[in-house]
Amino acid sequence: MKGEHKLKKIWVLTVLILTSLIFAACSSDSANSDDGSDSEDSSEGEGTTVEIFSWWTGAGEEDGLLALIDLFKEKHPDIDVENAAVAGGAGTNAKAVLASRMQGDDPPSTFQVHGGAELNDSWVAADKMQPLDDFYEENDLMDKFPQDLIDLVSDEGNIYSIPVNIHRGNVIFYNKKVFEENNIEVPTTFDEFLAASEELEAAGVTPLALGDKNSWPATQILENILLAKLGPDDYKGLFTGDVAFDDSRVVESVELFGEMLNYINDDHASRVWQDAAQLVAEGDAAMTVMGDWAKGYFSNDLNLTVNEDFGYITTPETEGLFMVITDTFGLPKGIENEEETKEFLKVLASVEGQDTFNPLKGSIPARVDADESKYDEYGKDTMDDFQNAEALAPSIAHGSAAPEGFLTKMNQAVNIFVTQQDVDQLVNALVNASSEF
Ligand code: GAL
Repeated sequence: MKGEHKLKKIWVLTVLILTSLIFAACSSDSANSDDGSDSEDSSEGEGTTVEIFSWWTGAGEEDGLLALIDLFKEKHPDIDVENAAVAGGAGTNAKAVLASRMQGDDPPSTFQVHGGAELNDSWVAADKMQPLDDFYEENDLMDKFPQDLIDLVSDEGNIYSIPVNIHRGNVIFYNKKVFEENNIEVPTTFDEFLAASEELEAAGVTPLALGDKNSWPATQILENILLAKLGPDDYKGLFTGDVAFDDSRVVESVELFGEMLNYINDDHASRVWQDAAQLVAEGDAAMTVMGDWAKGYFSNDLNLTVNEDFGYITTPETEGLFMVITDTFGLPKGIENEEETKEFLKVLASVEGQDTFNPLKGSIPARVDADESKYDEYGKDTMDDFQNAEALAPSIAHGSAAPEGFLTKMNQAVNIFVTQQDVDQLVNALVNASSEF
């Protein structure tokens, strides 16, 4: 009996607390609407969470995202953020997790997706994304991004995501001291690359660092050779069916790829891209072909200074060309906290948001009106190169050029090629994979 009485008391107390909480919530709501202040900032977000899905965890990857989340929290202290990042460069694991969540109608509030095929052929085609044209209009974003980027995030006249950055994929990062001490010129052509590699090897340095535990860094080398050998138009033609994958220039590219692989580190298959970049940082290797997230890694994680400790140059024979990789975020259909997610997207789309994220990430801002002074020499140089590029080219390894089905097959075939070096086998695999278009 005594216990029953106690329970009753607890029950009454709980009801009281709840009633007062509801009352407090209602009065703060009405206070906000009465004085015309922004109710979203102070109460609407309460108890809601924006879940941000990406693959930005760990060294060189997460600093920018964490800074962006901090900025968002400063502006919206009442909205919780769940950082739902899944480790694995280039989305090796995250893309699979995302796919199963999307198929199970359990989308994150917003997720990292590359502009181009990865966005349009997967999620837009499956009718999983909300058009953001009104969002762009309402937030005065229409003329704030280069048209080429808007095109990458648009399908049949609607815009489906917001680019947070532009990464460059055709870069060689190199150890300056290694080249200086051995009196070797940094190569700009493939012939020079092979000659310099011979000299470096003779000097006891691994010429080219590769970390293809996940196969995409090897695919990224090949895509850069394809861009160089086909030129931007015919490179793009590979994905429209205008140029065949058994074109003689593709064969030549694969042969060259094989030659370059003669100069990689023996333990490439057990390293991820950061481990390969580290070989360059420490002077055990001279060069690595990597997107400029490696610049974020060198500067923020390893505290190296650009143009002192490490240098950068476009991959051979691609000067004036810009391999574009853009990380974008959209609004999936069927999420619960749409308004709060839009608040996050507003911060991500803003000049302040982009200038908080990109200097740490190694990328340049997607917005055309960002503050250049926030970027180091590499960033300024890359902004300049982007604006004056003779042509932009979409990356295969990073989702823009070709649908996921093609990329999966290409990664597998490249992985086999790295050990077997069978040119015909890789070319045939690419021809077969192109049935995915
Ligand atoms: C890319 C992505 C970059 C970077 C890189 C390595 O696909 O666009 O932002 O994270 O993978 O993980």
